[in-house]
Amino acid sequence: MISTPTPACPAALRRPLGITRVLTPVLVFMAALPAGSPLHAQEAPPYQPARGQAGKDVVWIPTPDGLLNRMLKLAQVKPGDHVVDLGAGDGKIVIAAARDFNARGLGLEYDEKLVGHAQRNAREAGVADRAQFRQADIFATDFSSADVVTMYLLPDLNLRLRPTLLAMKPGTRLVSHQFTLGNWSPDETSWVEHRPAHLWIVPANAGGTWKATYAGDGGAVAAEMTMEQVFQQVKGSLDFGDIRTGLRSPQLEGTRLLFGFTDSAGIVRQVDARISGDRLQGTVYGPGGNRDFAAVRQGGAPPVGGSAAPSADELTNALQLLGE
Ligand SMILES: C[S@@+](CC[C@H](N)C(=O)[O-])C[C@H]1O[C@@H](n2cnc3c(N)ncnc32)[C@H](O)[C@@H]1O
Repeated sequence: MISTPTPACPAALRRPLGITRVLTPVLVFMAALPAGSPLHAQEAPPYQPARGQAGKDVVWIPTPDGLLNRMLKLAQVKPGDHVVDLGAGDGKIVIAAARDFNARGLGLEYDEKLVGHAQRNAREAGVADRAQFRQADIFATDFSSADVVTMYLLPDLNLRLRPTLLAMKPGTRLVSHQFTLGNWSPDETSWVEHRPAHLWIVPANAGGTWKATYAGDGGAVAAEMTMEQVFQQVKGSLDFGDIRTGLRSPQLEGTRLLFGFTDSAGIVRQVDARISGDRLQGTVYGPGGNRDFAAVRQGGAPPVGGSAAPSADELTNALQLLGE
């Protein structure tokens, strides 16, 4: 799962690995140098973190290059995107986002030495202007301005973050190395050398009752649309007065809502629309041509299903994943 030194189980991400194993050869080498040698006279070598070293809530183990590149591609990072890595370690995800995708990156990292190390790495990569690092606790920091959030944390930490992540602006892309967000199913998962990376696209709130209108073959059509939503999963129906029908294969991706329906005359139509607050605007496709489709939400948006804190069962399951 996690490479050298490979933790025996994911719980190893919580515990520090043998730091002395890494540092001992360095200390032996330094002791063997003659007094007054150039190395002794120079300043101490720059700080180097040790894989598996302790962190506030999770140890430091870097994401391999191939997987982090895939994570940024899954998130469709584009120039100018604001990419935030939660627990940034040596800064490699944020640096790659700036260097290879021309994004603006911010790494939040609790360990001050790692922050300095990441800043030095960003300078060496020539991207210090677009890859920045801040000493911060991810559970006490506002990162809501991000377009893309990356994580390599632990299942229970992901669950604790989930209400905050789900409340981010619709369309924000979330990518996690290894661990999921409990009952919030990923929109896509990739594997690179057997390691998973999961993508979620923060959904808009589509729930509630909407007054929908579009131009039908015989004039304006009005319908009441009701939608229920849990995370990005939606289901609903359209009520034409004489007939009520369920929505066919409704799909919500960020602000984009797609569904089909069979109208009162028995014609199958497809809707492709965008949600902006309490308004839905788009196109209805049918045999008579493509027409505007609009809807206005009535009586406010209900909370998105899944937005509450994770249940005790979910937290227990997450800890069981770690063998805790
Ligand atoms: C598994 S490493 C991942 C590093 C980097 N994101 C990557 O994928 O290469 C997790 C990092 O989170 C940091 N960390 C742990 N708890 C944190 C917290 N509460 N706030 C900020 N950083 C934290 C650790 O110091 C460590 O560097």
